[in-house]
Amino acid sequence: MCGIVGYIGKRKAYPILIKGLHRLEYRGYDSAGVALINEAGQLNVYKAKGKVAELEAFCAEKDTNGCIGIAHTRWATHGEPNTVNAHPHYSESERLAIIHNGIIENYAVLKAGLMEQGYTFKSDTDTEVLVQLIEYTQIDRHVDLKTAVQLALQQVIGAYAIAVLDKEHPDTLIAARKGSPLVVGIGEDEYFLASDATPIVEYTDKVIYIDDEEVVSLRLGEEVDITTIGNVQKTPEIKRLELSLSQLEKGGYPHFMLKEIFEQPRTLTDSMRGRVNVRQDNIALSGFIDNKDRFLNAKRIIITACGTSWHAGLIAMYAIEEFAQIPVEVEYSSEFRYRKPVINKDDVVIAISQSGETADTLAAIQLAKSKGAFIFSICNVVGASIPRVSDSGCYTHVGPEIGVASTKAFTAQVTALTMLALCIGREKGTMSQEQYLRIVRELGQIPDKIERVLGQNKRIADFAKTFTYAQNFIYLGRGYNFPVAMEGALKLKEISYIHAEGYPAAEMKHGPIALISQEMPVVVVAPHCGTYEKVVSNIQEIKARKGRVIAVVTEGDELVSKIADYIIEVPVTEECLTPLLTVIPLQLLAYHIAVVKGCDVDQPRNLAKSVTVE
Ligand code: AGP
Repeated sequence: MCGIVGYIGKRKAYPILIKGLHRLEYRGYDSAGVALINEAGQLNVYKAKGKVAELEAFCAEKDTNGCIGIAHTRWATHGEPNTVNAHPHYSESERLAIIHNGIIENYAVLKAGLMEQGYTFKSDTDTEVLVQLIEYTQIDRHVDLKTAVQLALQQVIGAYAIAVLDKEHPDTLIAARKGSPLVVGIGEDEYFLASDATPIVEYTDKVIYIDDEEVVSLRLGEEVDITTIGNVQKTPEIKRLELSLSQLEKGGYPHFMLKEIFEQPRTLTDSMRGRVNVRQDNIALSGFIDNKDRFLNAKRIIITACGTSWHAGLIAMYAIEEFAQIPVEVEYSSEFRYRKPVINKDDVVIAISQSGETADTLAAIQLAKSKGAFIFSICNVVGASIPRVSDSGCYTHVGPEIGVASTKAFTAQVTALTMLALCIGREKGTMSQEQYLRIVRELGQIPDKIERVLGQNKRIADFAKTFTYAQNFIYLGRGYNFPVAMEGALKLKEISYIHAEGYPAAEMKHGPIALISQEMPVVVVAPHCGTYEKVVSNIQEIKARKGRVIAVVTEGDELVSKIADYIIEVPVTEECLTPLLTVIPLQLLAYHIAVVKGCDVDQPRNLAKSVTVE
C-alpha cells in the first residue's frame, strides 16, 4: 500500500508534496516523510510517525525549501511503524533518497550482499536495501542514476513504485513501477508523480500511466523519458484526466464516508448513465456487446475479488445463476491464486475491484489469463492496473472513494454486475422479456428509493447510540441479502472495531445461536423476499433468547415490526435489487456507531484503502 508523491518544477515543492500526501493518506497512515533538495544542493529528509499532520508539525521549523522533492505516507510491511522505518530512506552516503510502495521480496539476499560490501542499515525496511543497491550500482558500474535504477531493478523480485532523488543532479527525478501504481502529471515546465491522480488533478489534467517494469526520467526542460528496466525506449501515451477537485473534498460532510453514503443516489445514476436507456427498457454494456460470444459460450463464470468487492461478487452469483443460468464460483483472490485452480479456456473470469490495484486480485487474473480464460473487470479507478490487464470490462464511474470503508463502490459494483447478468440472461434467452423489462425499469427507480432510505439517517443515528456498549454483533440475511449481512458486519468491524459476523440466517441454529443473549445485538436483513417467513422465524428464535433485534424490512411490514426492537424500512423493489437498498441502513448504522465511539471513521486503524501487498 503506501502513497508516493513527487514534484520537480519552478514552484516550492513542499506544499505540493504535503497536499499530495493528504490526498493519498487513505493508502496508509502509519508514518509520513518528505525529501527535498534545497537551493544550496542539500538533500533534507524529514519523517514522523503517524499521520501527515505529525509530519507537518515536525517540519514547521525546518528548511523546507527546494523545487524538487518526494514524499511518502506509509502502511507498514517490513518493520514497525516508527520514524526510522518511515520513508524516504537515504543511501549509505546520503547522496540518494528513495520512497517506495510495494515489497522487495528478495531483500534479505540483496541486503546480505550489500553488507559484504560494507553497507550498513539503519532501518528494518526492504526499501533501504533498494536505495543502497542503487547507490552501490551507481558507484560500482560508474553509471548515471537512471541506469543504476534500471540495473538494480533487474535484480529485484517483488513489487514497487519508487521515486529517487540524487543531490548531485537536482534537475532530475527518476521513478519506476512494477505491480504498484504510478502516474506522472505533465504541467508547464513542471512534472508531478503520484500513486494515483488525486495529488495531480489540481495542477494539470495531462497524465501518463506508467506500466510495469518502466523507468521514467523527469528532467526540467526535457520531454518525459520512459524506458523499460532493460533500457528499451517507450513512447509516452498522454491521457486526459476525468477527475475534478470538488470530487476530492468533503463538501460539508464531517467525514468522507458519510459523504460517499449520501452520494449513492447520484453515483448509481452515473453508473447507469449511457447503459440503461432513457426509456428504461434496455441495457447496453459495451464490454458485453463486444465480447458477447465469450459470455454466451461460457461453461462457467469465476468471480474473483477481496473484501467488499467479494461481497458484491456473491450477490452477482445469485443474479447470474438466476438470469443467465451459468454456474458461478466466487473466489477470494488470495485463495484462488495459490490453490492451483482448474481454469479452462472457455471460462469467463470477472474481477471486481474498486481501486483496480488489489495485489491478490491482480495476481488472480494474471493466473487466469495465462490459462486462456477471458478476463472482464469491474473497477472504479480509471486506468488502474486491473482494467489495464483485463480483456474487457466496465467502469463503475462513482468518482474517487476516499473513506477506507467502501460504500458507494459496493452499490455501483452490484449495479454493474446486475446489468451484466441481465444482458447475458436476455441474450441467452434464459429469462423472459417481461422479467427483463420489469427489472430494468426498477433499476432506474433505485436512486430515488435510496434517497428515501437516506431520509432515515437521523433515526439510525439516534438508536446507534444504544449499541456502542456492544462487543459483538451478528448480522443475518438470506439469498441476495446474505452477502449484505456479511457486508454490514465488515463495515461495523472495520470502522468501529466491534467484532461482527455475517451469517446466512438459517445457519444460526447450527452454532451462532449459542451466542444470543440480551447483550447481543442481531441485525436481520429481512425484506419481503422468497424466504421472508423463514427469516421471521429466525427473528422469533432470537427474541425467545432475549437477543436485541435491529431489522431491515420492506415498507409497510407488519410482522417483523411487532417483534423487532428497532426497524428500518426500505422501499419495495425486485428481490435481486434489494441489496442496493438494504445495505444503506447498515452503512449508516456502522458509521454512526463508529462516530459515537470516537473512532477515526475515514482512516480506521491498521487498514489502507488500496491493498497493493499480498
Ligand atoms: C471495504 O470496506 C474494505 N476496505 C476492503 O475490504 C476492500 O473492499 C478490499 O480491500 C478490496 O479492495 P478493492 O475493491 O479496491 O479491490
